[in-house]
Amino acid sequence: MLKRISALVLAGLTAMSVTACGGGSGGGGGSITMGFSQVGAESGWRTANTKSVQDSARNAGITLKFSDAQQKQENQIKAIRSYIQQKVDIIAFSPVVESGWDTVLKEAKDAKIPVILTDRAVDSKDTSLYKTFLGSDFVEEGKKAGQWLVNEYKDSKDPVNIVELQGTTGSAPANDRKAGFQQVIGADPKFKIIASQTGDFTRAKGKEVMEAFLKSNPDIDVLYAHNDDMGLGAIEAIEGAGKVPGKDIKIITVDAVKDGMQALSDGKINFIVECSPLLGPQLMDLAKKVIKGEQVPARVVTQETTFTQEQAKQVLSSRQY
Ligand code: AHR
Repeated sequence: MLKRISALVLAGLTAMSVTACGGGSGGGGGSITMGFSQVGAESGWRTANTKSVQDSARNAGITLKFSDAQQKQENQIKAIRSYIQQKVDIIAFSPVVESGWDTVLKEAKDAKIPVILTDRAVDSKDTSLYKTFLGSDFVEEGKKAGQWLVNEYKDSKDPVNIVELQGTTGSAPANDRKAGFQQVIGADPKFKIIASQTGDFTRAKGKEVMEAFLKSNPDIDVLYAHNDDMGLGAIEAIEGAGKVPGKDIKIITVDAVKDGMQALSDGKINFIVECSPLLGPQLMDLAKKVIKGEQVPARVVTQETTFTQEQAKQVLSSRQY
């Protein structure tokens, strides 16, 4: 008898935990199903972003169908088409590159499934193809990186040789962080970008490309890396070449993930522009509003800051990601 009661209790507990994992109807979310196509798992930022989306869906009672595109647009298009076939209530995705989305977005619109862009933008002229775009202002991030550099070298007349590790080719953050940085440093001809190449937002590629930069350019003053991970890979390359990161070569990165902030407070990076991956709660709120037919702003910009080495030391222990 006791055995039968224990088995029933266990079965009940198992059923409860399955419901909680799948989202279900908690938090006033009704029975919303969201299909989410993630770029990949290329960086610490991306891992934190995935966790934020998954945790927030659970907390909001939204059932999340999640797919990882492994940095390939064709995989994202397949995932979106499969969400359309499954008749999800809403689709959200972070587009790996800016171009080439019109056809699949039109298919979602024809199927009357609303789409939210999160983190990265698309360059579609027809903005009715999506309801809103939630994410950072990447041009502004590039400008902040450039402003720090201009200030750092304000008293110097000598040329400043910069190498740039770009993010994924064709992605909004790579295009915009380059453009914003260029806008600011372009005002003074002493700033020269002597080499610029993609490191695909990964640590391994950042290291590999920096090794090549170091071989062909003996006089590098500054590295501008479009994310922390590429900067951290580059630090390994710089140390491997017998130079001191943060001193022999000054380093500016974007993101402010924990590993980047650790390197900043250790003096190996000089300045980090924050890009917040914690988009999940706002995404779920927007999704609920869109489904209820409420008006949402066409653009929701994430609030972000910047960090010097001193500021990194102060906030490191409380950093969430
Ligand atoms: O789109 C945001 C960027 O993508 C982050 O800066 C980078 O780390 C990530 O891979």
